[in-house]
Amino acid sequence: MAQRLLLENLLGRPTDRVPFWFMRQAGRYLPEYRELRKSAGGFLELVFDPKKAAEVTLQPIRRFGMDGAILFSDILVVPYAMGAGVAFAEGEGPIVERITDAGRIGRLALDEKKLQPIYETLRLTKKELPAHVTLLGFAGAPWTVAAYLLREKGDKEFSGARAFAYAQPKLMQQLVDAIGEATVVYLTRQVEAGAQAVQLFDSWAGLLAPDQFERWVLQPTAKIVAALKPTGVPVIGFARGAGQHLAAYAGTGLQCVGVDQQTDMATAISALGKKQAVQGNLDPLLLAADKDGALRQAEKILRTFGDRPAIFNFGHGMLPHTPVDHVAALCDLLKAARR
Ligand code: CP3
Repeated sequence: MAQRLLLENLLGRPTDRVPFWFMRQAGRYLPEYRELRKSAGGFLELVFDPKKAAEVTLQPIRRFGMDGAILFSDILVVPYAMGAGVAFAEGEGPIVERITDAGRIGRLALDEKKLQPIYETLRLTKKELPAHVTLLGFAGAPWTVAAYLLREKGDKEFSGARAFAYAQPKLMQQLVDAIGEATVVYLTRQVEAGAQAVQLFDSWAGLLAPDQFERWVLQPTAKIVAALKPTGVPVIGFARGAGQHLAAYAGTGLQCVGVDQQTDMATAISALGKKQAVQGNLDPLLLAADKDGALRQAEKILRTFGDRPAIFNFGHGMLPHTPVDHVAALCDLLKAARR
């Protein structure tokens, strides 16, 4: 059987070729996604339709041959399954019901029935996926999910969420704990349904002051990683904007640490354990804007990886206006490169 390059690196065993996948590799930059999205109605209808969601998960693998297939879903299905109102309006992004009162926070509880279609997506995908491709599950990290639940309308800086954490730390703790517990259940079920590794997306980690980062990013991450240990599946952590906290974030026990494009890769690597895999960090905007520049930067990142466990990825998600031929050129380079 062909080697699972991505899984090998996640387990601390570097391979001859550096494996790759891209955050948001399924989505609007692909014509076949836009086609299927039209037939599904809304975004959530697509996510909760296992056949279609499995198809979307597989689309980028068929076209480009990535080493990892990430489940097609969204981080906001967890607050949805906990009882919060979640909607995706065309061209507006997600709209999440704001929940700040103690009564509502106390009643947030995971209704597992709502998540069954997602486990079915994983089972269907696993059947179709070539054996050398690693199936990745994911969830939002508690702080980032809480930030959406506490967000005030139109607030790009999530000031409402940060203010709530300062003003109501006990309620914030309750909320973060509830999301954390739901996340452990959700990710454990994903593993049972076929996920071979999972990623925690903490997209808004970089907004927090240091003591807040410790409390709302480091502590909940360490708890989730410890709780997932019995599954035996590696956990990738992506705390966007972690910057100066990268070593502490790596210390939460993650098998792999994702690095954003604002961080110098060599500096990031020096913050990690020798057997801990690193993942990142091409600027997705560079790939969209300048193909040749992106290929040069990709080679530089590969050189910086040297012979340590590593996974090539972006420093954040693929942008919808990325030309498909730029993605293809990058994948060709990554498939041909050897170390
Ligand atoms: O990576 C993948 O290909 C798997 C699918 C995936 C989606 N969202 C699909 C999606 C993953 C891993 C996510 C994670 C996610 N969702 C994050 C963390 C990563 C990050 O980008 O920081 C966050 C913060 C969300 C919440 C979310 N969902 C936002 C802010 C938006 C609107 C922005 C946008 O791109 O439209 C979404 C919608 C969303 N999630 C789309 C997709 C393909 C676009 C919906 C559409 O097709 O219209």
